[in-house]
Amino acid sequence: MEEAAPASRRDPLDTPPPAFSLEEARAVAERVFGIAGSATPLGSERDQNLRLAADDGENFLLKISNPADQRGALEMQSLAMLHIAAVDPDLPVMRPQRSLDRSYHAEAEGPDGRTHIVRLFSFLPGRAVIAPELQTSELWAVGAAVARIGIALRGFFHPAGGYEILWDLKHTPRLRNLLEHVSDGPRREMAERVLGRFEQRVGPNLPSLRAQMIHNDLSLDNILLDESHQVSGIVDFGDLTHTALICDLAIALVSLMWDAPDPLDACRTAIEGYTSLMSIEEAEAEVLGDLIGARLVALGLIARWRVDQYPENADYITGNEERTWALLDYLDTLTWPQAGERIRSACLSETSARSSTRPPVGELIERRRRVLGPALSALTYDRPLYLVRAQGTRMYDEQGAAYLDAYNNVPVVGHCHPRVSAAIAQQSRTLNTNTRYLHESVVELAERLVATMPGGLDTVMFFNSGSEANDIAWRLATTYTGGTGAVVTAHAYHGVTTTTIAFSPEEWAAGQQPAHVETVPPPDGYRSGGGEPAGAIGMALDALTDRGMKPAAFFVDPLFTSDGIHTPPPTYLQKIIRALHQAGALLVADEVQCGFGRSGSHLWSFESSGITPDLVTLGKPMGNGHPIAAVVTRREIAERFAQQSDMFSTFGGNPVACRAALSVLDVIEEEHLRLRAHEVGLHLREGLAQLQERHPSIGDVRGTGLLVGVELVEEPTTQEPASRLAASVMETMRERGVLIGSTGPAANVLKIRPPLVLTHDDADLIVSALDAALNEPTLG
Ligand SMILES: Cc1ncc(COP(=O)(O)O)c(C=O)c1O
Repeated sequence: MEEAAPASRRDPLDTPPPAFSLEEARAVAERVFGIAGSATPLGSERDQNLRLAADDGENFLLKISNPADQRGALEMQSLAMLHIAAVDPDLPVMRPQRSLDRSYHAEAEGPDGRTHIVRLFSFLPGRAVIAPELQTSELWAVGAAVARIGIALRGFFHPAGGYEILWDLKHTPRLRNLLEHVSDGPRREMAERVLGRFEQRVGPNLPSLRAQMIHNDLSLDNILLDESHQVSGIVDFGDLTHTALICDLAIALVSLMWDAPDPLDACRTAIEGYTSLMSIEEAEAEVLGDLIGARLVALGLIARWRVDQYPENADYITGNEERTWALLDYLDTLTWPQAGERIRSACLSETSARSSTRPPVGELIERRRRVLGPALSALTYDRPLYLVRAQGTRMYDEQGAAYLDAYNNVPVVGHCHPRVSAAIAQQSRTLNTNTRYLHESVVELAERLVATMPGGLDTVMFFNSGSEANDIAWRLATTYTGGTGAVVTAHAYHGVTTTTIAFSPEEWAAGQQPAHVETVPPPDGYRSGGGEPAGAIGMALDALTDRGMKPAAFFVDPLFTSDGIHTPPPTYLQKIIRALHQAGALLVADEVQCGFGRSGSHLWSFESSGITPDLVTLGKPMGNGHPIAAVVTRREIAERFAQQSDMFSTFGGNPVACRAALSVLDVIEEEHLRLRAHEVGLHLREGLAQLQERHPSIGDVRGTGLLVGVELVEEPTTQEPASRLAASVMETMRERGVLIGSTGPAANVLKIRPPLVLTHDDADLIVSALDAALNEPTLG
């Protein structure tokens, strides 16, 4: 057990920080780094940190180090940041800048005659948040960032790594020397209990845990978040040291638990983020609760000790003191064994799931074939993907390889969004029943949906799939109009039931067009200039009438996702709905694929036409993967149906599904995903349009928001569909870790339809993978 007193050596915590005036700091930056600008102070416990706004607009962090900091340790910090930048370039860590004489470290004399090492770093964007403000997805993201830092640093070593710092949790026993600074008796006893547990349970086990260089201060002061709730900056490597890897997680968890409404819940979510990238070993899970206690005691005792030393700096030193003792009190009252067990089980639930033995790919394909039969859709890709987990825009296979999911619209707010998962879990623990009993969420969801629709669409019915919603829409339309004939677009898809497969020419066997269905061409701006809708719909309605059938409805996917992705002018649907109403028929806007903000301009894609459909059907992304679908219509249409029969679906509108859908609406709103679809979609189409200039096989780039089509042709003048090329590009992109699909009658339109949380970088990755695939299409 270590006994040394904390102040037995020259310690930065025990040495007054540098005190350059702003003008002196500014002059140092100009003389040493050649950067002229203005300096503003930033907080620091032991250094002097300044934001340097250079005259050319760029921002830097100027760090004047405490003279007690050893040069070797400071060099180690800069080298660690450079190492991270090299192995995980997307991880937003500060980048050290060179001085005029090409060094990362310069010396400058301070006003008091002491010599200081001065460093300059890139200034990272984002804001420091506090725990109670954190959304679930942010807790998760912070946990994942902590794991990434650990992974990025695991290949890093520096001889100064043995540098001793009291903040290193392995030195926890030394904190006993500081107990005398705590005058509050109960607090001192609480700290003693934690130290006792540490000495008994953690100390003996620490030497056997995974150890490496760690950041050692990943608190929310040093993890910045941006507008889109992603980690945008990891700063302050001043406590970097070689110790047990799990300490970084313990330190981060403390700051995520402070003032959180349910600290252990926050802890669990962050641990899930962490274990999504790195497993926690059993021995680490065993001590994590006590390490959290140790960090809290370190914060509490070091603050007390330093206030006694520097009373003039008390405000800064004690900034987190009350919440530290409050959290200690909370965990102590819960009892440390109980708190430790909850934290332990959060760590291991993922680990044990992951370590379960999985059958090999070939065996699973064979078993799948045997029990699921030949009618089930074939697996995509020559080398089928065996997926085991997903998060955000990424899916991971059984080998741990990541794939950018640029194809699946169901996880509209990102795969496994913690907010949606939590809503489902919470409601399924509370109540799940049917709509013959009164419960709140189904009413709340219906009200929320009605509020998003144009006036008049005031009635909602809930089902479980898009097919079911379209099936019921057809029953409503036929009952209301008395008609029996339908119109759809030439390569549409509207569902899998007997009714809706009849409305899905994409699935018809050749020559098997049902007698009650007519088709119209989609508005293809690339091949036919968009066509004249009124003429085509008029002919289709006449054809039905000629066969003795009154038309009941036109089912339309407003972005024509199965027809090859087309965005007609607003007049298209306006003319069609007029023609339909004149014939006594209704318009069903099938938003199953393109709804929920995908178009970028509106929540529902029909809205850009300025029309009010008679019926709107919703599905797929509605529960981010949890089954739920709906029909929204006018009251009079629902009333006509009610005169004949009532409507009940066992699972339709169940509370779990409704909570999932409500949380999806919340996330779309709070994370501004519609706007994001618009902005990132634009960026993606711009990148693809640039590719088009280099690749003659790209005949057309089109779409709206995050529904993007890239039509491949043999050559632009003939416009002959390049179907085989499209199939091979899909395969090659999969090998490069990007998943897309294809659509259109010739399957030659690459279909890019990612979750709406796609980032600009993800969009760039799609473009570069397509570029590479078009350069080497035969790879696939
Ligand atoms: C436009 C459209 N409508 C309806 C459906 C059917 O939905 P589900 O597969 O949930 O039954 C789909 C499914 O792909 C679709 O894309």
